[in-house]
Amino acid sequence: MRPTSVSPDGTVYSLPNEADYHSELARMEALANEARAKGLEVVVVMGVGFVGAVMAAVIADTTDPQGRPSKLAIGMQRPSVRSYWKIPLLNGGVSPVKAEDPEVEPMIRRCVLEKKTLVATYVYDVLKFADVVVVDVQLDYAKNNLGNVRTGHVEMSALEESFDIIAHRIRSDCLVLIETTVAPGTTEQIALPAMRKIFRQRGITSDPLLAHSYERVMPGREYVASIRDFWRVCSGVNEEAKDRVAKFLNEVINTKKFPLTVLDRPIESETAKVVENSYRATILAFLDEWSLFAERNGVDIVKVIKAIKMRPTHSNIIFPGPGIGGYCLPKDGGLGIWANKHILGFEDDTFRITPLAIDINDTRSLHAAQVVRDALRNMNVPIASAEVLILGASYREDVGDTRYSGSEVLIRRLSEMGAEIRVHDPYVDKWWEFENQDEYPSASKAVFFRNQKKLKDLKVQKDLPAALSGIDALVLAVRHEPYLDLDPDAIVASAGHPVAVVDCFGILSDARIRRYFELGCEVKGLGRGHIQRIKDQVRKART
Ligand SMILES: NC(=O)c1ccc[n+]([C@@H]2O[C@H](COP(=O)([O-])OP(=O)(O)OC[C@H]3O[C@@H](n4cnc5c(N)ncnc54)[C@H](O)[C@@H]3O)[C@@H](O)[C@H]2O)c1
Repeated sequence: MRPTSVSPDGTVYSLPNEADYHSELARMEALANEARAKGLEVVVVMGVGFVGAVMAAVIADTTDPQGRPSKLAIGMQRPSVRSYWKIPLLNGGVSPVKAEDPEVEPMIRRCVLEKKTLVATYVYDVLKFADVVVVDVQLDYAKNNLGNVRTGHVEMSALEESFDIIAHRIRSDCLVLIETTVAPGTTEQIALPAMRKIFRQRGITSDPLLAHSYERVMPGREYVASIRDFWRVCSGVNEEAKDRVAKFLNEVINTKKFPLTVLDRPIESETAKVVENSYRATILAFLDEWSLFAERNGVDIVKVIKAIKMRPTHSNIIFPGPGIGGYCLPKDGGLGIWANKHILGFEDDTFRITPLAIDINDTRSLHAAQVVRDALRNMNVPIASAEVLILGASYREDVGDTRYSGSEVLIRRLSEMGAEIRVHDPYVDKWWEFENQDEYPSASKAVFFRNQKKLKDLKVQKDLPAALSGIDALVLAVRHEPYLDLDPDAIVASAGHPVAVVDCFGILSDARIRRYFELGCEVKGLGRGHIQRIKDQVRKART
């Protein structure tokens, strides 16, 4: 039987076989020739994941100054069991990434079905037709311990394989733009020599035109704008590569409004990305200790942050919630630490703040689990076998992206303590990290905890009143819009009795906190030390 790939909506696609490759390549060749005859540039986007799928659509939507389409974008995706389904979906005009941005779906539909400037394929040989290749494959950072980024390593294989595949197939004058967030030094010290070697074997005497420009994409309501209408930084391995990448980005990205920064060398562009995200990880981590201080000393960190934010120089201070997730912040600093040793060859310990910040962020949700335990204890309910409902599976508000979400570690710890877990999220259908914890054990955080087996069957619930029925504790874990205005009376009515409520993200107003106490609930919150005061006031009013 042919292996299959299943899309998130359950459609089963058979992976292509030998004969399919020939006809698919012929189809691609005809499309590329037709495009070139019309004066369109052919751009192959390698990897149609969260970034590549939308970047390919932005490229396909590009027009010349006369408003005519100027590029054919070919999304090229390896036909793996995990990802092949993205190809037929894209070719049907449907986005392979679920996005809250209303621009994504119509843009992909328009480019595929009307403009016919976007197609997807699995044949690597389309690289032969490319004027530009944009590399958007993943580069993961594996952590071997929870809360110790230093013992982790960069998983280079998908990216190194991509360099190899590209160098064997592209024309010598093809621009290769690496958009993947890489360990600083990768473009010049790994990609360039590897690809140059293959070029020489092919009898090509020039160097590959390699460039780097990183993505600042933010999945969510501004998905497309965060790619197209946003500032970019780029560089190339030589002057020609630098000129070519600047030209390409000036055509595709709205650089008139969001000017392009061209740096001297790719390592500077690579470093900019890693520093950018390490900076953000650090300002988040820094608030962890103040959140704990606030919790213990009658201080509401939410009001403190609001007060500080009034000062324009401090407007980017942010409350960390129950852990820091997303694909980038938990790993990007690790890329720098790893590169320092394994690409650039330094033995000394240059980095102190960056790894500490990541380690703090990676373990913050363990504290959230303690707060849930304590809130339940105050209700005379032991955590073991308590029914706990987590509101929010994704790593940030109003997106359906669960990668490295704080809620995952929180759930794993609560499960370790014996709690029965339920989860609700309006944006997430399947929680990949739990469903596949056995299939990809080395990539799963399950290894850091005991008692994880049954989490494999954790289903994300959609009906909130049903999910609330009979619970002992409610954890507000993500600032999803539907969670911002929940009515305490309705919650207690759905639960059937007073519950322990834990606010991990500064969601509850003082009036709501008070109401929960009046209803006989216990309330606790990360960084919300003033809750005790409200509790005392409600108690006093009763006596
Ligand atoms: N997702 C974000 O929010 C975000 C933001 C900024 C930067 N980035 C960076 O962008 C890069 C891509 O991230 P993503 O979120 O799109 O990852 P992703 O895992 O969603 O997508 C990567 C895709 O590349 C495919 N792929 C892997 N090897 C391939 C090969 N040899 N040929 C063809 N396809 C291949 C995978 O199957 C997958 O579909 C990463 O470096 C990431 O750090 C991501």
